[in-house]
Amino acid sequence: MPSKKIEDLIRPDVWDIKEYIPIEPPEVLGKAHGMAPERIIKLDGNENPYGPSPRVAEALARCQSFPFYPDPGQQELRRLIQGYIGIDARYIFGGSGSDEIIDLILRATISPGDKIIDCPPTFGMYRFSTEVCGGGVVDVPRDDRYQIDLERVLEVIDDRTKIIFLASPNNPTGTLMPLEIVPELLKTGLLVVLDEAYYEFSGKTMIHEALQHENLIVLRTFSKWAGLAGLRVGYGVMQESISRHLWKIKPPYNVNVAALEAVQATLSDIPYLRTNVEKIKAERERMYSALEDLDFLKPFPSEANFVFCLLTRGRGLAVRDALREKGIFVRYFETPLTRNAIRISVGRPEDTDAVMRALQDIGKEL
Ligand SMILES: Cc1ncc(COP(=O)(O)O)c(C=O)c1O
Repeated sequence: MPSKKIEDLIRPDVWDIKEYIPIEPPEVLGKAHGMAPERIIKLDGNENPYGPSPRVAEALARCQSFPFYPDPGQQELRRLIQGYIGIDARYIFGGSGSDEIIDLILRATISPGDKIIDCPPTFGMYRFSTEVCGGGVVDVPRDDRYQIDLERVLEVIDDRTKIIFLASPNNPTGTLMPLEIVPELLKTGLLVVLDEAYYEFSGKTMIHEALQHENLIVLRTFSKWAGLAGLRVGYGVMQESISRHLWKIKPPYNVNVAALEAVQATLSDIPYLRTNVEKIKAERERMYSALEDLDFLKPFPSEANFVFCLLTRGRGLAVRDALREKGIFVRYFETPLTRNAIRISVGRPEDTDAVMRALQDIGKEL
């Protein structure tokens, strides 16, 4: 038998895939940067600074289900989500984070050579998961205000285009999409994936439209408003003509037992979580105003739990690094499409105070 080099077994297109740059948890950041994890001010992942409902830890401590595989049909999970969003459980599909649902949608639709439309700057997983499937990404950059260029989106569609991905509010810009755009896109007959990961901060949704349109999928997550990013649970609302294929191809036990317990505890404590969402929104506005006063940043109004700032002086990477030296972690962007920017997640008031003090100092050195 001719012996093969291990590299030859890897798909040629996988060789070329650029890895997604993920964020890391405090313990890993602490180790990498020689800091105690509890000293880190983590404003890089749009996570919830107040964490989950205290009922989550109590429920996990009591849970007796850990030795058993979770329900592959997610019946209890979907029943609970039905109660939260007021949409029948048969339209609900759960995932290990909405990341997994993005991946499954693409795996069910994209053959090598098929394409998606992406509107950068936006969430990187749409591009990444498409490339993993051997699909192509057609970029339609957002305009100066980071809004969708609808005309251009309609122009670039061809017979290999399958999906249009839209996030509203958009990550990293925090921009809400005018909802009138969606009906125009639905008319194309392509699959429209509307990602509402930050819905609870914006209050604007089209989730009920997914019941009227077979080609609309709306995604939500428990990672942001409910503080469950570490337990990985998201969901999609879509019609059964699509979901039946996702049910077939999903890993059977994709939403784990702890995640289900956590969702149950979360949804029994919605007023507590809403109070935290309101605190985050108020803090977002306070941080936005303070950022406006800095002479080297131009913050964009945000409907999510982060603020995107273009730099008018200096470089995003340099500001990210200078903040990191002070134990403050943010995300930076430096591509032609994102321009030169940083994104700061909204933390507690003391986190805003720390990041503002640090930015004032850094601004003097730029
Ligand atoms: C727009 C958007 N969609 C989806 C996700 C991923 O969410 P999840 O934690 O549910 O996978 C994120 C996380 O940053 C996001 O910003």
